[in-house]
Amino acid sequence: MKHDVADLKLAKKGYSRLEWAGAQMPVLGAITRRFSKEKPLKGLRLSACLHVTSETANLMLALKAGGADVLLVASNPLSTQDDIAACLVRDYKIPVFAVKGEDRKRYYSHIYAALDHRPHITMDDGADLVSAIHKEPRKYLRDIIAGTEETTTGVIRLRSLEAEGRLLFPIVAVNDADTKHFFDNRYGTGQSTLDGVIRATNVLVAGSTVVVAGYGWCGRGVASRAAGMGARVIVTEIDPLRALEAVMDGFQVMPMPEAVRAGDIFVTVTGNTSVIRKEHFAAMKDRAIVCNSGHFDVEIDLKDLEKTAKKKRPIRDCVQEYTLPSGRRVYVLAEGRLVNLSAAEGHPAMVMDMSFANQALSAEWVSDHHRSLEKKVYRVPTDIDKEIARLKLKTMGTDIDKLTKAQIQYLAAWESGT
Ligand code: NAD
Ligand code: ADE
Repeated sequence: MKHDVADLKLAKKGYSRLEWAGAQMPVLGAITRRFSKEKPLKGLRLSACLHVTSETANLMLALKAGGADVLLVASNPLSTQDDIAACLVRDYKIPVFAVKGEDRKRYYSHIYAALDHRPHITMDDGADLVSAIHKEPRKYLRDIIAGTEETTTGVIRLRSLEAEGRLLFPIVAVNDADTKHFFDNRYGTGQSTLDGVIRATNVLVAGSTVVVAGYGWCGRGVASRAAGMGARVIVTEIDPLRALEAVMDGFQVMPMPEAVRAGDIFVTVTGNTSVIRKEHFAAMKDRAIVCNSGHFDVEIDLKDLEKTAKKKRPIRDCVQEYTLPSGRRVYVLAEGRLVNLSAAEGHPAMVMDMSFANQALSAEWVSDHHRSLEKKVYRVPTDIDKEIARLKLKTMGTDIDKLTKAQIQYLAAWESGT
């Protein structure tokens, strides 16, 4: 079996970490047990380009239990957990192509290994597989029936392909399921981003000023968790509605040129490019910490910083110190890549349970329905989304009320007024 992982000897550690995560993924566990009996993915090759973590490993086991012939590659050069990659290869015979710290050439050789697997189904986090297929459709499109996409940025890329009439196969936007972005993007990114900042720097959050760029699902999570730890939080936005929400949630909102003068820690979660740029670095306080938990490595303009800085040195794992001509220092975490997955372990398993339940059930759904699907971006069907919420509550031991007959009738009636 072909693979490319850092060191198979790490598999033992990966094995117990995989088990630990699995124990906190009861919804995915229930799906795995059903999949092992029913084999809904039998005969299908599936290539996944996801962060190679202990949670993703549990998803791979679910898909394999369902009968799929799975292959996994990294969706980010820094997020791979090498012990997990080794364990999937050695103990579960799942081909993995992912090495933490891989360079661009090796990263793309892995993407092409995923395509050489001739997938029927693609599973992306950021649309790298899909965009490679769209660049060479004659070579790679042949067997594909459908795909799934995990994150906001990937869905944006796919919707723009769809809008141009150029999307070549149906894709399920897993990110847009309520049981995904309400929880993963908000609570997952909220907690794991601060975890990444703290593991990389060991700074005290209490009493510091945290600037959060973007008040979407991820931004809300980061802002509320930073505030919960005692930080003064400033939000920057470009959307008036989201900015208003941030104001009414109790945060200060101001443009980045003002925020840079006040911030100690900066987190970008916009999905946009060059959100922190040359002019912003120049106005920051000495020893400002800058990181990204949003999109690839494009939110912080590192090229600008590299050009302006007169000195650069690594100072801790995942921390680069840049000294500006003014003598002030800026600390960039994880090379401007996702700090929660590069400096920490990504979202906790408890929340990835729902995201990956959506992935597994979406793979089953496309295998059942692909013949009637068009070349469009689809939402996860509402009944799947609701079922995941129901199961998650149940596994958390939380019960809710049921509508009475009278309530059902009342809600269906239009006659009754005040
Ligand atoms: P979202 O669309 O809900 O929010 C993004 C927000 O950023 C919007 O409110 C938008 O108005 C704002 N924005 C855009 N450009 C801006 C700018 N120049 N300055 C300030 N604000 C700006 O998206 P989301 O679900 O919060 O996702 C944000 C990013 O995080 C995406 O790239 C997504 O793929 C990524 N993401 C990362 C993780 C992770 O594990 N780190 C998890 C989920 C999503
Ligand atoms: N994205 C964010 N956190 C993740 C995790 N723990 N595993 C896989 N993908 C993720």
